Amino acid sequence: MKNVLSVILMSVLVLLGCSASFAATNGWDNLAQTPPMGWNSWNTFRLEINEGVVRGMADYFVERGFKDAGYEYIVIDDGWQVDRDAQGNIVVNKDKFPSGIKALADYVHSKGLKFGIYSDDGYKTCGGFPGSLGYEYQDARQYAAWGVDYLKYDWCNTGNQSTPDSYQLMRNALEKAGRPIVFSMCEWGTSKPWQWGKGVGHLWRTTFDIRPCWDCGQRVLSKGVQVENFIGFTKILDLQVGSESYAGPGHWNDPDMLEVGNGKLTADENKAHFSLWCMLAAPLMLGNDIRTATPETLDILLNKEVIAVNQDPLGKQGVKVRDDGDLEVWSKSLHDGSRAVVLFNRSKLEPNMHVLWTEIGYPSHLDATVRDLWNKKDMGSSTGGYAVEVPAHSVVMLKVSPQ
Ligand code: GLA
Repeated sequence: MKNVLSVILMSVLVLLGCSASFAATNGWDNLAQTPPMGWNSWNTFRLEINEGVVRGMADYFVERGFKDAGYEYIVIDDGWQVDRDAQGNIVVNKDKFPSGIKALADYVHSKGLKFGIYSDDGYKTCGGFPGSLGYEYQDARQYAAWGVDYLKYDWCNTGNQSTPDSYQLMRNALEKAGRPIVFSMCEWGTSKPWQWGKGVGHLWRTTFDIRPCWDCGQRVLSKGVQVENFIGFTKILDLQVGSESYAGPGHWNDPDMLEVGNGKLTADENKAHFSLWCMLAAPLMLGNDIRTATPETLDILLNKEVIAVNQDPLGKQGVKVRDDGDLEVWSKSLHDGSRAVVLFNRSKLEPNMHVLWTEIGYPSHLDATVRDLWNKKDMGSSTGGYAVEVPAHSVVMLKVSPQ
């Protein structure tokens, strides 16, 4: 009996060992060590995406310093596919992508960038095009052959499928296809993917879709319950509290793509949105048409000191350390022992706000230097805390470093 048990144990260990090294040798384990950065077509172009736009984004990434700032992935969302052929191969919409996906991926790669694509766990995507259900291995092989580096995998038309099993199936298919592909799971947080997603995907959506507004929301009936399925960025932010411990290198909470530069968000609101996504260690997937962005929006998206907070190698998600109603203090631990701090003012007033060192894990007698990351200015050193006026619907973002 003892021998039988040890044989079983050995087999399990060998199996586990094999799958771990399979992931490692295929590069899976090294992907997304910091939150992925890039651009995705959905927030601006919806289903009206085409290869001209995608090529233009790749050109612009290089010409306007996006690549240099760390943005890497150019991702086509829903609407590139149209049908399946008699062999079950996914068919590309030739009107929108006349040169085909491989040529487009090659073009993006020729710019030193990476290329991403979208599919769905169900039989149809949210836009009504063929999903990957039943074709997981075939699609994964196709993506690998095209040179895809990133897959966003949606959750429409999935009936009563098990969420973890369905995502695990596609993850296995991607691994089997043998190309390192960042796996972005988009099931809107409905099955709490932060609880099971590590090791399945590299990032998982935590909420329904973002909209380019401060706090709008659209209520719909889902399974007899009223839920908000399209929400502004402050509402998404509120839903991130409590998820902090689930994020880390290779496995990130995804509060959805950026709306910076979209809708009627003001410059201050855009700054707040970007700062807070950086504090959340959120994937930074741009959702605007960067080719027509205002200089103000470009300055926000290309601020390297703010981006460095997001990309900090420690990979800690920021935490709300104080909530005084409209006034909030957020803190994110950085690898060098310093803290990024955001003083977030949701009100329409310009209050004086402060952070105490004890709130961000330092003793009150500590002398620390303070740098204002948006003004790119050293503010000198301070003991015990720091106070500053914060504009309406905006933030002050600081780096606090012990002396
Ligand atoms: C869902 C996703 C969006 C987008 C669309 C595409 O709504 O959450 O991010 O991918 O589908 O149809």
